[in-house]
Amino acid sequence: MSYELAYSTFGDEEKQAMYAVIESDHFSMGKNVKKFEQQFADFFGKEYAVMVNSGSSANLIAVATLFHRAKNALKAGDEVIVPCISWATTFYPLHQYGLKLKFVDIDLKTLNYDIDELKKAISSETKMIVTVSVLGNPCHFDEITALCEQHKLILFDDNCESMGAKYKGCYTGTSGLVNTFSTFFSHHISTMEGGLVVTDDYEIYCLAKSLRNHGWTRDQDEGSPIYEKKDDDFFEAYRFILPGYNVRPGELQGALGLTQIKKLPRLIEQRRKNAAYFVEKFKDDSRFIIQHETGESSWFSFTMIVAKSANITRQQVFAALDKHEIKYRIITGGNFLEHDVIKYINHEVTKSDNASYAHNNGFFVGNAPIDLTESIDLLVEALKIL
Ligand SMILES: Cc1ncc(COP(=O)(O)O)c(C=O)c1O
Repeated sequence: MSYELAYSTFGDEEKQAMYAVIESDHFSMGKNVKKFEQQFADFFGKEYAVMVNSGSSANLIAVATLFHRAKNALKAGDEVIVPCISWATTFYPLHQYGLKLKFVDIDLKTLNYDIDELKKAISSETKMIVTVSVLGNPCHFDEITALCEQHKLILFDDNCESMGAKYKGCYTGTSGLVNTFSTFFSHHISTMEGGLVVTDDYEIYCLAKSLRNHGWTRDQDEGSPIYEKKDDDFFEAYRFILPGYNVRPGELQGALGLTQIKKLPRLIEQRRKNAAYFVEKFKDDSRFIIQHETGESSWFSFTMIVAKSANITRQQVFAALDKHEIKYRIITGGNFLEHDVIKYINHEVTKSDNASYAHNNGFFVGNAPIDLTESIDLLVEALKIL
């Protein structure tokens, strides 16, 4: 037996959904994508969702919208606060649009922002806070939204690894002015590749639709606030108003999304059952710091950080896992400051001790919406020998 990092959630329904698209012979963005966007927005109680071809593209488009708003637009040189631990494409679009990144340390138990450090980092230059609920575990959104209100900051929630998590009854990915999701394979729902920008702001919605689609006006609603329609249909058909991209999803992705979103509550329930079993097995094992749940995590995976007091090394743990064919990997993208690419990024660091500790002593094993009792038992067995 082996214990994988991820398992497919596709069954007959997904195959049928894809087959229906093949039969329709219409593959580029169309009615399936539109319907999925509507259902996705409804599921999370938000006004608008715009689907794109990945969570990374969702971040890119979401950042771009904030630079093109009529009022309170971000501008190059503005300061944005980010956590030290996240995926690389949380940071790249911020950098690519000329923002200055201020990195804040994480809490070793939750793996999310250390709230005291976050408070200290806010300066008169700060314009935005980016939240990342690491691996399904919600950030303290009540405190963070209060900080944003107090200091008049934009909240950007990169929720790409935490679909279905809740904090104080509220879904993560709903508290920001803009919120992003990923539907990549192994995430809470999968469209193979895919992502969404979610917002209640009509102007941001219109901007996101244009920016994902060549920066043109083709799919703007009547009454869109971002341009004025003219009478000449010849030019209106190909009218470019924003420096955008082509990051559209296809109909296969839309159809998969429609099938998977129906299953989301069930998928999360199974992940949470596995998590309860994992926590039961490891909560009293002082060799490891496991992720401390804040709110209701959607448990992307199970993190384990070798404690300072433990007389084992991560290398010994890896050897035991290898022997039992248990797969493991870095926590999200690790401490971003320790990657070579940081030399290109205009940034400042307040403190990064915990992120660095997690980077050098932590890892995660997989969770998935299938019963992992036996896999977790294998993990317990593998770690007994140390
Ligand atoms: C926090 C975060 N942001 C962005 C992304 C990028 O999503 P994608 O892989 O769909 O491009 C990920 C991917 O897992 C992520 O974890």
